[in-house]
Amino acid sequence: MTRIGFAYNEKPEPADAEIAIAGEPVLPEDEPPSSRRDAWSRTSTAAAPSAAVISASPPVDDEYAEWDSPETIAAVERALSGLGTVVRLEANDEFPERLRAARPDIVFNIAEGLRGPNREAHVPAICEFYGVPYSGSDPFTLSLCLDKARTKEVLSHHGIPTAKFWVVRDERELRRLVEGSGKREAGSGSSRRNGFDSRFSLPAFPLFAKPIHEGSSKGITEKNYCTTPEELETQGSVLLERYRQPVLVEEFLPGAEFTCAILGNGRGARVLPLVGMNFAALPDGALPVYGYEAKWVWDRPENPLEIFECPARIGKALQREVEKTALDAYRVLGCRDWSRIDVRLDAAGVPNVVEVNPLPGILPDPADNSCFPKAARAAGMSYDQLIQACLVYAAQRQGVPLSGKVVRVRARAAALG
Ligand SMILES: Nc1ncnc2c1ncn2[C@@H]1O[C@H](COP(=O)(O)OP(=O)(O)O)[C@@H](O)[C@H]1O
Ligand SMILES: [Mg+2]
Repeated sequence: MTRIGFAYNEKPEPADAEIAIAGEPVLPEDEPPSSRRDAWSRTSTAAAPSAAVISASPPVDDEYAEWDSPETIAAVERALSGLGTVVRLEANDEFPERLRAARPDIVFNIAEGLRGPNREAHVPAICEFYGVPYSGSDPFTLSLCLDKARTKEVLSHHGIPTAKFWVVRDERELRRLVEGSGKREAGSGSSRRNGFDSRFSLPAFPLFAKPIHEGSSKGITEKNYCTTPEELETQGSVLLERYRQPVLVEEFLPGAEFTCAILGNGRGARVLPLVGMNFAALPDGALPVYGYEAKWVWDRPENPLEIFECPARIGKALQREVEKTALDAYRVLGCRDWSRIDVRLDAAGVPNVVEVNPLPGILPDPADNSCFPKAARAAGMSYDQLIQACLVYAAQRQGVPLSGKVVRVRARAAALG
């Protein structure tokens, strides 16, 4: 039997994490946050706050938003067990010793990492150190994609459209940017296709600010949408202080948004059916972005937010353009086996890459609105087939034989093309 190591980070108990939203009380341990959904993803049982309440008092306790729930971990383990014997390797302080002792033939990696801007690279780097094959992107790509600005530099270098951007590392740089902002009309100056000339031009409002090293909508709220120098100064300061990392300031992309689930490698890499964001489903007056409120607050078991359309309603020509942009980004960033790429249209209707997720979210319950499994379902793949396809791609790349029904998984994955 193939020995499959399974590397993950599990969300702590809600009571330990002391999670609270917008000043609401911490969830008591004995109170299930939701019934049919991924229970640990939702952090409050109180009624959904209105858009006004949220923007007045944005949620901030999103420390564990990236880690996986016991339900997700169990579902992935079940899927992997169709292709070998699964050994759980929680990616905590003991991971290196446990990996050495377990000596798996391959590691299936979904670990988001414990700490630091290179956290997602730690498990793959340790696997490389011990010569153990693993699934997904390598440490370099994982670190690169966790730095949204460096990612945009690479994309710009290769002529892949991404919004113009500026990086502020501290209050002084923020003030300098704020002083320069608003002095230029939107659309004037250098080409929108290339964000790399940003040092030489001044930003035009509206702008969108976000922490440079976060994911899972951490630090992304409506307040990040800045229409004046004052708003940029206030929110830039809040983000610098709260997340203790540089802030990425981007021109706001006003068009439609899609997310592209990509599976496979090289010429065999395929985009699964596009997921489109239906911002009309957000509460009245909400900003058309998929931020913390949309992901963790307004989408509730008793009142699910119908924000995803899959397959997206999109014309064939635009669909091809979105897919090409996403596949180009996947290739130049060195993504492997799978990734999810967010794309948004600029004012001219050109698809721009917003960010790249080489460790995509994979909540198993269809009610949980997780994009990658949703796109897989639209392609006729079950959750187990999706997880298994990712492992098969990783094993094929590295010449690792797998037990079980690999042939069927391979055939299903190939049929996507
Ligand atoms: N430059 C931008 N213009 C418009 N909307 C943006 C921009 N950057 C981010 N957003 C919105 O914020 C959401 C979250 O941003 P993203 O960088 O994808 O963060 P996360 O890593 O948390 O998913 C996006 O899905 C999009 O709706
Ligand atoms: Mg995103």
